[in-house]
Amino acid sequence: MTHSSPPRETWRELFAQSSGIPAGKLRWWLSDLLDCPLTRLPLDSRPDPARRERFFDALRRLERNEPVQYICGKAPFLDFEVRVTPNVLIPRPETEQLVERVLKQLPDTPLEILDVGTGSGCIAIALKRARPQWTVRAVDLSEKALAVARENARNLGAEISFSQADLLQGLPPGSVDGIVANLPYIGEAERGDLPAEVRDHEPGLALFADHDGTALVLELMRQARAVLRPSGQIFLETGETQSPVYRNAAAELGWHLESFRDLADRERFHVLSY
Ligand SMILES: C[S@@+](CC[C@H](N)C(=O)[O-])C[C@H]1O[C@@H](n2cnc3c(N)ncnc32)[C@H](O)[C@@H]1O
Repeated sequence: MTHSSPPRETWRELFAQSSGIPAGKLRWWLSDLLDCPLTRLPLDSRPDPARRERFFDALRRLERNEPVQYICGKAPFLDFEVRVTPNVLIPRPETEQLVERVLKQLPDTPLEILDVGTGSGCIAIALKRARPQWTVRAVDLSEKALAVARENARNLGAEISFSQADLLQGLPPGSVDGIVANLPYIGEAERGDLPAEVRDHEPGLALFADHDGTALVLELMRQARAVLRPSGQIFLETGETQSPVYRNAAAELGWHLESFRDLADRERFHVLSY
């Protein structure tokens, strides 16, 4: 790769020098840099020296497996974009399905909703945008994540009350109609199987939980009854092999559990009621 050649190449020629980096990532990065739709990228134009320099900077970061969303500082979620930093998980398309499930199952009436482990705030913001009459609260253990979530909510005009908490700690009893949670669910033993992009760059606090990844979801199930109103429901996103664990726990704790599959046909979502 010639980092020092004169700035005469087109974007297409620069991309051709970056073997090993998927073209899709470079196109996404360029689309962000030029604020241009992916379908209209001026690949045959020649970047000015400053943009050419930014290209090689992005390339160095991509070569270190840094997710393109952290390089661009943003990620799409449903019909909006959130700012993302290495302090928050990059929102995943599966989580959009979790939001859709909540919107489908909870009534369109004034409700108190809680997003546990809010990260970038994507779930809480999506719910508040879709149901302005809901009162949405969001908690996270990480103050750094909460700072990003607060900024996203402010930028997107979503009125959400954020606070730092360990799961449902400190919440008034019987105060919530719906709990939504995409908590960490990966076991330490699976660390080595994760793509380097995830393992080396996304926050460990957002990925890993004890007991093969099930500890936080199980603890949430234990704590939730006190916080939920009698007709309340919990909406969970979890790991695809973990359903039997949650099914057993639900039976022990007296919850009714219904599971749903993601678009790749993996059983990833659970709705609990009692
Ligand atoms: C998998 S990420 C999900 C982020 C976001 N909700 C999403 O769907 O993109 C899990 C989040 O849970 C937070 N978290 C981890 N342990 C927690 C705990 N004990 N209590 C509250 N939040 C926790 C992490 O900081 C992280 O932001």
